[in-house]
Amino acid sequence: MEDRAGLVAGLEGVVAAETRLSRVDGEEGELIVAGYPVEELAGRASFEETVYLLWYDVLPDPEQLASFREELACRRALSGATMDLLRAVAAERVPAMDALRMAAGTVRPGAPHDEALALVASLPTIVAAYRRMQEGEEPVEPDPELGHAANYLYMLTGEAPGEEFARALETYLTTVSDHGMNASTFAARVIVSTRSDIVSAVVGAIGALKGPLHGGAPGPALDVVFEIGEASRAEAYLREKLGRGERLMGFGHRIYRVRDPRADVLAAAAKRLYDTDGDRRLYELALEVEQTALRLLAEHKPGRNLQTNVEFYTALLLHGLELPTELFTPTFAIGRVAGWTGHCFEQQGSDRIIRPQSVYLGEENRRWVPVEER
Ligand code: COA
Repeated sequence: MEDRAGLVAGLEGVVAAETRLSRVDGEEGELIVAGYPVEELAGRASFEETVYLLWYDVLPDPEQLASFREELACRRALSGATMDLLRAVAAERVPAMDALRMAAGTVRPGAPHDEALALVASLPTIVAAYRRMQEGEEPVEPDPELGHAANYLYMLTGEAPGEEFARALETYLTTVSDHGMNASTFAARVIVSTRSDIVSAVVGAIGALKGPLHGGAPGPALDVVFEIGEASRAEAYLREKLGRGERLMGFGHRIYRVRDPRADVLAAAAKRLYDTDGDRRLYELALEVEQTALRLLAEHKPGRNLQTNVEFYTALLLHGLELPTELFTPTFAIGRVAGWTGHCFEQQGSDRIIRPQSVYLGEENRRWVPVEER
């Protein structure tokens, strides 16, 4: 809401750009990705198709898809400098998201399109190589024969994933590929609006994504489910958290006033995954925790309609894919880089620096006092 000085806290409701990448309708609970409802696209599109769609506003035909896959696949390998950096920071036990931010900055500057391809292609390699280094294992070379999502899982484990796993990950990556003017996308657009490069924009976006109010929530959301352990303990545990003034991770959203449509897409994908494979007990427990949290949030903030957001089911789905909690946010970045780069192209097209104003609250007309007289 705007105050008398024109300040809109958190820029809520402020329109900062035009985009054809995605439309978020918070009242209706709708997400449209380049014209397609997210329910229509996720689960069907490969990640490569989603990136192509976001960049070119059209789905590729078979030839275009084959050549786009090839363009990405041949850029997966990391440079010696990137590998050296990752080994150095792994020895210092730097968190994965920080390592990703640093390593993304080593992608060579070039033409915008080349930078964007290199970023999309190499983020999974960075995350997977770093994870293996942290575990004391040798990184696995990317396999150009595998699709983007399947190759990421392959580089983590050294084994090509089954179709169900690859499909679940593609569903996730497409679901989170773009989401209007979210904080990390805005950060990327601000950087590129200065005519800086796309590598810098993506490094900034990774930094913004890391925060627990944006992409950092799924790890803590799952930790809560683990800590609760038994459905019967959910109410007491969550009440205590709310009583301490804490937020429940995986619930609430700046834009959605109803359920986040991405939560439904990921809930269906998680159900499919846990039905065929995985820890059924954890899945049931998570559903119970969700229901209890929704009931308590309705009591806690009546009339606000705090609902499950994308992060809750992200946590469940990625855990079902056997990804460790520390990789949840880096994996979010692997999906969202599709949107970040698409927004960078759009911002470059508009070529107008994003430069808002601030309201000065400080003193006026101070006089200089020499240090010995203070
Ligand atoms: N748990 C408890 N209380 C919550 C809450 C949550 N998950 N989400 C919002 N609230 C409370 C806020 O503290 C606020 O209370 P107040 O009026 O006493 O200050 C009230 O509900 C309204 O908040 P709202 O305006 O809807 O939130 P926001 O737009 O400032 O923030 C989020 C949106 C996403 C940052 C917020 O919902 C949140 O922190 N959620 C948990 C983190 C998370 O899951 N992030 C991933 C987002 S995809």
